[in-house]
Amino acid sequence: MVPLPDHILVRPLSTADLDKILSLEARALPRAECAGRERLAYRLHAAPELSAGMFVRMPAEQHNSGSCGGGTNVDVHACPPSREKLIAYIIGTKTMGVKITDSSLQVPTPVEVLADGAAPEEVDEEDKKPTETDSSSTEDSSTGSESLVDSGGHGAPPVGHVEYGNTIAIDAFTVDPDYRGSKIGTTVLRDYIQRMSTQAVASYVAILAHENMVRFFENLGFYDGGRSDVKFGGGGWHNLYLALADDDEDR
Ligand SMILES: CC(C)(COP(=O)(O)OP(=O)(O)OC[C@H]1O[C@@H](n2cnc3c(N)ncnc32)[C@H](O)[C@@H]1OP(=O)(O)O)[C@@H](O)C(=O)NCCC(=O)NCCS
Repeated sequence: MVPLPDHILVRPLSTADLDKILSLEARALPRAECAGRERLAYRLHAAPELSAGMFVRMPAEQHNSGSCGGGTNVDVHACPPSREKLIAYIIGTKTMGVKITDSSLQVPTPVEVLADGAAPEEVDEEDKKPTETDSSSTEDSSTGSESLVDSGGHGAPPVGHVEYGNTIAIDAFTVDPDYRGSKIGTTVLRDYIQRMSTQAVASYVAILAHENMVRFFENLGFYDGGRSDVKFGGGGWHNLYLALADDDEDR
């Protein structure tokens, strides 16, 4: 395990960070679970505010020019992005219901983007609670095929990011293998949940995880919603979700 350097920065990601994310993804995840350039670019473009990246600064001795260069008093704010090393990231989109689906993980076609851009139906407060429809899959149990009725009532299951969705679907959450076991994952996710609660952008956060990681997420307040039907990455996922604190309730 690599010791954590002094200078750590957490900030939202953008498409400018794509190469760093792809590089970390390739080192950190099994190939089948890699989202790839197209999906990542789409998600960062659609909802950059739902992302977080943890960066460390390159050691001072590796800096040999500009205001980052030399000495121990590195001006971290003057370091160009190329000096930042990405060690953890969270990338999210919004979806309907509290379960991530294969549809929500896909990149919409231009036509679907257009359809999604149409004025959304009014979502009243009652609909914000996870309902039976929300917490059950969009799969029709009698046929095993995808139901045409999605939890948002828009016909076909929504594809990709749904701007008016009530749940943040964390599509990717990864820590550099060299830095694992130092509570970076816990820190980044806690910080993310806190930020999303404060900004009140959604009522829930959902993530898919394999069985061995369920406890990790339960320790952070997530509920295990059981087996997921998602086939991405070979399947075998659990649905985990968490209700974001409503800041209004504290007032
Ligand atoms: C999951 C992940 C983000 C955790 O990052 P991390 O920085 O190592 O996590 P932490 O150091 O905060 O670990 C917190 C706890 O979870 C446990 N844990 C972490 N990864 C684990 C794993 N793969 N299997 C079982 N337990 C794990 C740790 O042992 C630790 O337990 P402890 O508090 O009893 O010591 C990282 O392992 C990772 O990137 N995995 C690959 C992608 C992935 O599975 N993402 C999550 C689902 S999409």
